[in-house]
Amino acid sequence: MEIIIEASPEALADRAASIVFEELARKPDLVLGLATGSTPIRLYERLRSRPELFQAVRFFNLDEFYGLASSDAQSFHWFLRHHLIDHVKHDPKNVHLFRGDVKDLEAQAEETEDRIREVGGIDLQILGIGRNGHVGFNEPGSSLGSRTRPKTLEPETLAHYARTLDPQSPLSSFAITMGVGTIMEARRCLMLVSGAEKADVVRRMVEGPVTSEVPASALQMHPRATAILDEAAASGLKRRDYYKWVFENKWRVGQK
Ligand code: PGA
Repeated sequence: MEIIIEASPEALADRAASIVFEELARKPDLVLGLATGSTPIRLYERLRSRPELFQAVRFFNLDEFYGLASSDAQSFHWFLRHHLIDHVKHDPKNVHLFRGDVKDLEAQAEETEDRIREVGGIDLQILGIGRNGHVGFNEPGSSLGSRTRPKTLEPETLAHYARTLDPQSPLSSFAITMGVGTIMEARRCLMLVSGAEKADVVRRMVEGPVTSEVPASALQMHPRATAILDEAAASGLKRRDYYKWVFENKWRVGQK
């Protein structure tokens, strides 16, 4: 896993945005997997400054709560429209976000896997990690080969969202999520982590064993995963100085 350590959440977002812009320059009809959570908000702010770049982009997302309509401000569908998609030029037929208000999550899971295959796979998947090590809503214990499917959330995950979302409308403990195996098939993964409260789980993800107890640790097996961390999130890493040195002295073809 490539590790990039930035001084602040702002610098982290700048770095992430420059990677997304590079990928868009390379492939204007990029298949882009989006993530929710507090960390990618600053990235989406930066992406909104170039609305013309998204006209051919195909959008997917990682997960969604069961039972929420797409218009519900607690849904991830709403979050991604509000923070990014509604602000950029896009073709509505290219927006493949999960819907929480369908009866049959399993059917939606299969359709999503089919659609990802039809568009040729995800080119760039934005990711975050939960304090319990989840990636998407793949809670600890999730198979590292899992596919898109309904998932039961841990009480800690629900409690986290209950604090950040509207306490008046309780969330269901069910969700739909891309599987770890689905995420691992993305050509490139970009994991964004900010804040000292994530330092311990970042250490486990990067330097611990690959284990379903920390589903995000599967990224150690990914051929092209980059984790962009701020200093606080990187503070528990044993080899922090080495990662910085590697990044600053990156091997370039033709370098003497
Ligand atoms: P957070 O969510 O950025 O709100 O902590 C990350 C996640 O749970 O994936």
